[in-house]
Amino acid sequence: PGAVAADTFGRRFRYLRLSVTEVCNFRCTYCLPNGFRKSADMDFLTVDEVGRLARAFADLGISKIRLTGGEPTVRKDMTDLIAVVAAQPGIEKVALTTNGWNLFRHVEDWVEAGLTHLNVSIDALDRDTFQRITGHDRLGDVLAGLERAQTLSLRSVKVNAVLLRDSLEDGFSAWTEFVRERPVSVRFIELMRTGDNKTFFENQHVSGKELRHWLESRGWTATVRGVDDGPATEFEHPDHAGRIGLIAPYESGFCDGCNRLRVTARGRLRLCLFGQGERNLRDLLEHDADAETLKARVLEALVIKPAGHTLHAGDPGDMMNLAQAGG
Ligand code: GTP
Ligand code: 5AD
Ligand code: SF4
Repeated sequence: PGAVAADTFGRRFRYLRLSVTEVCNFRCTYCLPNGFRKSADMDFLTVDEVGRLARAFADLGISKIRLTGGEPTVRKDMTDLIAVVAAQPGIEKVALTTNGWNLFRHVEDWVEAGLTHLNVSIDALDRDTFQRITGHDRLGDVLAGLERAQTLSLRSVKVNAVLLRDSLEDGFSAWTEFVRERPVSVRFIELMRTGDNKTFFENQHVSGKELRHWLESRGWTATVRGVDDGPATEFEHPDHAGRIGLIAPYESGFCDGCNRLRVTARGRLRLCLFGQGERNLRDLLEHDADAETLKARVLEALVIKPAGHTLHAGDPGDMMNLAQAGG
C-alpha cells in the first residue's frame, strides 16, 4: 500500500467493528422476532484469525476495534479475543458491545486482558418491560454487571437503549433520571427496519426527529463529536451528571461522518451496515505470510466505500438483522 492510500485510510477509518459470533442468548423483539436461525456452520473467526486481522487493520491506521455480535460474550474465549486485539501495536482502544448477560461474572477478566471501552445494551429499566423486549428476566443481573464495570479502570462505560413506541414515555423519564447522578452516557437508538421486522417496525418506530425534539425541549444541548466516535450525537444538561446520546440512522447527515468499517464473524469485510458490498478476507487470515495481500485487498475494497446509505425509514435495504450484520 502506498503512502497516499494509507493516508486516505488513516484519515477516515480509525474504527473497526468486528463481529465474533452470530449467536445470541437474548431474543430481542426488534432483532430476532423469529428466534436465531441456527445455521449448520458455526465456524466463526478464531483467536488467531482475529489477531492477524487486528494487526493488518492496525497497520492500515485503525486504532479502535469494537467486538460485536450477535452477542460477543457467548464466546467461551472472549478473554483471549480481547487480549489478542489489545496486543496489536497501534490498537489504543479495545471496545465491546454486549447485552450484559455475562458482564458481572467476567468484566474484571476482560479489563485485565485489555478491554478499555464498554457499551451495554439495556432497552428498559423496568423489569417486566425488559423481559418483554429481550425474552429474559435478567435486568437485575445486567445492572449489577454495569455497576461492577463502573468500578473498574475502563476509559468509558455507556448504555444503549432502543426506544420503542410502547415504552417511550417511561423510557424517557427513567433514563434521564438514571443519568441525573451517574456520570454515564445513555444513548437512545432509533429503531431500524431490517428484513425481519416490518410490522414491528411500523408499530414501534419513533423517529430520530421526535427523540431529538424531546431532548431539546427539556434543556439538553448537543456536544461536538470526537474523530473516532461512533455515530451518536451526545447531549448534556446542567442538572445531570451523565449524558444522553442519540443514534438516529435515518436523520440526514448521519453517514457523513462515517469513520468505521465492519468485519463479519465469518471474516467478510462490510463497508456499511446496510450492505453495499462485501469482500471475503478469511482466506488471507490463516498465515502471517498473507499480511501484505490482506492489507492490499482491504485498501482496494475501500475505494468503493459508499458516501452514505440511501435508505429512508421503512426500507430495510439488504440488511437482514443486526445480529448477522455485526450490530
Ligand atoms: P461508540 O464507539 O461508543 O461511539 O459506540 P458505537 O455507537 O459506535 O457502537 P455500539 O455498538 O454501541 O452501537 C450502538 C448502536 O449504533 C447499535 O444499535 C448499532 O447497531 C448502531 N450503529 C453502530 N454503527 C452504525 C452504523 O454505521 N450505521 C448504523 N445505521 N447504525 C450503527
Ligand atoms: N434497530 C435498532 N437497533 C438495533 N440493534 C439491533 N437491532 C436493532 C434494530 N433493528 C442494536 C441494539 C442492540 C444492539 C446489539 O444492536 O442496540 O442492543
Ligand atoms: Fe441479541 Fe442484540 Fe439481537 Fe438482542 S439485539 S437479540 S441482544 S443480538
